[in-house]
Amino acid sequence: MSPHPKEMWENRYGNDDTFIYGLEPNEFLAASLNDIATGEVLCLADGEGRNGVHLAALGHTVTSVDLAESGMAKAAQLAAERGVELTTVVADLAEFDLGENRWDMIVSIFAHTPPPIRTKVHAGIATALRPNGVFILEAYTPDQAGRGTGGPPVPELMMTLEGLRQELVGMTIHTGRELVRSVIEGHLHTGDGAVVQVIASPEQ
Ligand SMILES: C[S@@+](CC[C@H](N)C(=O)[O-])C[C@H]1O[C@@H](n2cnc3c(N)ncnc32)[C@H](O)[C@@H]1O
Repeated sequence: MSPHPKEMWENRYGNDDTFIYGLEPNEFLAASLNDIATGEVLCLADGEGRNGVHLAALGHTVTSVDLAESGMAKAAQLAAERGVELTTVVADLAEFDLGENRWDMIVSIFAHTPPPIRTKVHAGIATALRPNGVFILEAYTPDQAGRGTGGPPVPELMMTLEGLRQELVGMTIHTGRELVRSVIEGHLHTGDGAVVQVIASPEQ
């Protein structure tokens, strides 16, 4: 029987001295930030903090949240090494309160959770963002199953653009696409991956 997700992620991060998704930010996120003013950012399921630390280094005020204490400890360590501020929160997104009118940006990179958690989180994005806020997401699609280059073990944890259109209540999707791209991001993301990418903001 597979371990509970928290136990699995604690072991993955805690039993490995390296950063398993690397030290560089997610490629889609990094490429999407050029025209976005600095502000308050929430990084969902931020793992070992590669994305939160990158955003902090760009001048954003960043809060990273993740289930895994061992991941958030490595994120805090990375932030200290880079000389940037990062607020880390160990929490299950099933219970985490995104807040209201609270964030200028919310980032979700490979934040694969069971559908009930995912739909609850996505339904709260529009309320949690400020009116001109932005949501940036990349995730594996079910087409990733069987590729052997990373991603969740079962399709129900993956996302589709059509599903995200339903789940992101009150959001306008400016960029929304499914594609296969080379994902070389640490030793668990190792080759061509089927992903969905979204940039969205609250409906005006
Ligand atoms: C594939 S990793 C991605 C980590 C990071 N976003 C990155 O791209 O480097 C998925 C992350 O989701 C986190 N996670 C899974 N279920 C969660 C939940 N219910 N609440 C919070 N975090 C969760 C795991 O601990 C893990 O860090």
